Amino acid sequence: MADETIEALAPVDGFVAEVLVAPAPEAAIVPGPPTLRAPVDPAALDTLFRHARSHYAWRDTPVDDVKLRELFEILRMGPTSANCSPARFLFLRTQWAKERLKPMLSVGNRPGTMAAPVVVIVAHDPHFYHMMWRLYPRDDAKAWFADNPPFAEETAFRNGTLQGAYLIMAARAVGLDAGPMSGFDNARVDAEFLADRGWKSNFLVALGHGDAAALPAQPPRLSFDEACVLL
Ligand SMILES: Cc1cc2nc3c(=O)[nH]c(=O)nc-3n(C[C@H](O)[C@H](O)[C@H](O)COP(=O)(O)O)c2cc1C
Repeated sequence: MADETIEALAPVDGFVAEVLVAPAPEAAIVPGPPTLRAPVDPAALDTLFRHARSHYAWRDTPVDDVKLRELFEILRMGPTSANCSPARFLFLRTQWAKERLKPMLSVGNRPGTMAAPVVVIVAHDPHFYHMMWRLYPRDDAKAWFADNPPFAEETAFRNGTLQGAYLIMAARAVGLDAGPMSGFDNARVDAEFLADRGWKSNFLVALGHGDAAALPAQPPRLSFDEACVLL
């Protein structure tokens, strides 16, 4: 188990290695996940947040399916309410698949999207609760949602959006760049790509190796005092 975790997270500069040091051999307790964690290496923070940018121009470096599976193995561990895990992901990584998407994109998003090695449709399954027997077996959680469609819809959108954010961060963690996009026609994407499964699109994320030379100046962020309240 620990070996799997180390393997999955190793691309972020090996920063988990210290955290996952095995417990003393004599310890009789079952080792759970560590709760007193060391802060991650500053270099990892740069990779994930401080030096990361939203990318829309790409180097000519392919992204293989193994990398996409590695990415998913990380993002799926991010928390969702009652572990409902409603997000679904369509990885468009062929020219044919991206051509189907092209007319649904805002004009400004077309060049960067078509040039990206992979474009992800971040969607969610409105009927995600059919999996609750396995995802949250301690309660009859399916009934919470099946009997309350507005609650199910809100839960699917909230947690699907969170999982889309985990996708962006996981992409950075495995050495990719990400370009999230909401500038497209959701209804047309749903009809073209998702109708047979009944899923709903939320936003898109282009993935690849970004061309840093094409980045515009980074827009500023709000300060702590502007965005936060301490009570
Ligand atoms: C959900 C979401 C949707 C976005 N949609 C678009 C888009 O349609 N087109 C675009 O060029 N940028 C889009 N962006 C990019 C944002 O403008 C960008 O992340 C923000 O300005 C911060 O830029 P930085 O990450 O380079 O600092 C989107 C970002 C997010 C998170």
